[in-house]
Amino acid sequence: MNIDRLPRVCLAEFPTPIHYLENLSKSTGGPGIFMKRDDLTSLGLGGNKTRKLEFLIGEALKQGKDTLVTAGGIQSNHCRLTAAAANRAGLDCHLVLNGEPPIHPNGNLLLDRIYGATIHFCTRPARDARMDEVAEELTRDGKAPYVIPVGGSNAVGAVGYVNAMLELADQMEEMEIEPDAIVFATSSGGTQAGLALGAKYKGFKGNVLGISIDQTKTGDEPFPPILERIANQAAERLNIPDRMRADEFDLDCSYLGAGYALPGDLEFNAIRALARLEGILLGPVYTARAMGGLLDLIQKGGFTKDQTVLFWHTGGSPELFAWPDQF
Ligand SMILES: Cc1ncc(COP(=O)(O)O)c(C=O)c1O
Repeated sequence: MNIDRLPRVCLAEFPTPIHYLENLSKSTGGPGIFMKRDDLTSLGLGGNKTRKLEFLIGEALKQGKDTLVTAGGIQSNHCRLTAAAANRAGLDCHLVLNGEPPIHPNGNLLLDRIYGATIHFCTRPARDARMDEVAEELTRDGKAPYVIPVGGSNAVGAVGYVNAMLELADQMEEMEIEPDAIVFATSSGGTQAGLALGAKYKGFKGNVLGISIDQTKTGDEPFPPILERIANQAAERLNIPDRMRADEFDLDCSYLGAGYALPGDLEFNAIRALARLEGILLGPVYTARAMGGLLDLIQKGGFTKDQTVLFWHTGGSPELFAWPDQF
């Protein structure tokens, strides 16, 4: 594995802590629940994108780029962290956000503005083309843009989550824990591709279970082949022999609810539970859906009392401020 030779910038302190959630575990009467706190990565209110951005920005700097261009929804955590990371690395940042600009920006959008990112609003169908256009416009103006795909989910970014699995393996050994499952929110795929590949590389025996936020196994763009492609390109980049097959990814698509960024009872109940039992904040779009899914699986007997589950908190609490009426 040549991870130490890949270009990387330091954006946060690692390892992130692992906490045992005693009150939550007791309240479900089910498995012991640990939480890996990537919501506490020490940049711009935290989240999973920091790990990907360390390698993505490393690559951008190696290529002599001076401006980051990326895209997402109006409350994108990825865009907020890209704007923060760009400032740390001395790069400009352009964000293509799908949605209507609100009169009073809040949550992640407010933070994008505070970080000084240039924001381009567009519709969801126009998003990818708009990102290319912005990059072309920047090039015409003499800038050197580096385009980061939505969610930072390509081989370069996914390496950040292979690395995260190596970090977890060391912590599990130190803490003498062997979770039966690692559970997390999955959406653009870089997190799951990286974790699953890292788990295979380390010989981790438990499940690596992504709770889908908006992806499906079938349809026009089935998710497992996307995960396979990202993971295997990351494996090539890392120069390791392991490869993933689409059918090896553990994916639960039962909690899509009303759709992306449309949280309901499952998510708001999970937010209240974690806040009131553990003082921990989840985000309505990603981590509350994943935690709501985990709590539902526990309730249905998916895990026994003598098992251990590790919930990987991937961040997103700034999203909360976009749903003030719910609480
Ligand atoms: C808070 C949070 N959790 C999880 C995810 C999903 O990660 P990935 O896009 O790598 O699948 C995202 C993606 O934006 C996120 O913002």
